[in-house]
Amino acid sequence: MRVRSSDGACTSRSKYARATVKTNAERARGRTWDLTFIPNTRRKMSRRQKENYRELFDAHGIRFDARPRTMRGSGDDGSTSDEASRMKRYETLDWDRAFPGGGGGGGEPRRRVLELGCGLGDNLIAAAIEFETYVFLGVEVHRPGVATALGEIEARGLTNAKVCEMDALWLMTGEYVEDASIDECLVHFPDPWRDESGLDRKAHRRIVNETLLTSLERTLRPGTGRLSVATDDDQYARHLERVFEQFARPRGWVRCDPFARFDSKYASRALEEGRSCVDVGFRFHPPSVDVA
Ligand SMILES: C[S@@+](CC[C@H](N)C(=O)[O-])C[C@H]1O[C@@H](n2cnc3c(N)ncnc32)[C@H](O)[C@@H]1O
Repeated sequence: MRVRSSDGACTSRSKYARATVKTNAERARGRTWDLTFIPNTRRKMSRRQKENYRELFDAHGIRFDARPRTMRGSGDDGSTSDEASRMKRYETLDWDRAFPGGGGGGGEPRRRVLELGCGLGDNLIAAAIEFETYVFLGVEVHRPGVATALGEIEARGLTNAKVCEMDALWLMTGEYVEDASIDECLVHFPDPWRDESGLDRKAHRRIVNETLLTSLERTLRPGTGRLSVATDDDQYARHLERVFEQFARPRGWVRCDPFARFDSKYASRALEEGRSCVDVGFRFHPPSVDVA
């Protein structure tokens, strides 16, 4: 059953229709994209995941202040959290605060990697172990995934990986990520949103879309910043091709090798089921940018 309220927002009992429901924060900022995931309000977690989430989030997680900057300081953000945890919220993605401890090898700043939709954190953790001078932030909306990743970061004693529980498009399109501040953006095995009719009617729900690319044009390091996408879905692979040719290439994106990818639950399942994976890399390289 659907109910339309006076401000036009639609509410429904169907989990699919929930994708059109706006939260108060979204109304305040105006979400202009379709959700790329089905909101999971039950957040069913194992006892271990609950413990991880409760005990490890402050150490290995990042929370953002959900208010638009214009409302900050009003003291009325509708938040139920207490003052202490609000103090720990980030206004913007401050990599130096999240990962204190200086630069990478040879005095270079540490390369910053954002993984969108990191799931259980399999790739995030393996990459953080392999590239110990880089810093990694995984973004995931699914709380059990966040909780599992927190547990792994703790178990392996990693100081160069953190997790953020948030809609990645919300993070990328808001005021949270500073200009030219990301070296690598990874999107591995994004939800495929297949449409077996052949009409590809769910393409607008895919996370690699014009909204993401536009936000990356601002936030990737000019000329060198890179988006790496992996998929095991043929429709998604065609979608990537279409988005690249019709939207990205005319704006100055070029193809390149992708960043390293490590094994994950989805990658292993694809291989077991005989599907091959497609890995692509894109750099935003408008003609005006010189790369040394
Ligand atoms: C198919 S899984 C792949 C997980 C992981 N990358 C891997 O390879 O194992 C896709 C993940 O993306 C997450 N996701 C989808 N849309 C998202 C969004 N807008 N922001 C953050 N996470 C998102 C989903 O919750 C899910 O965990």
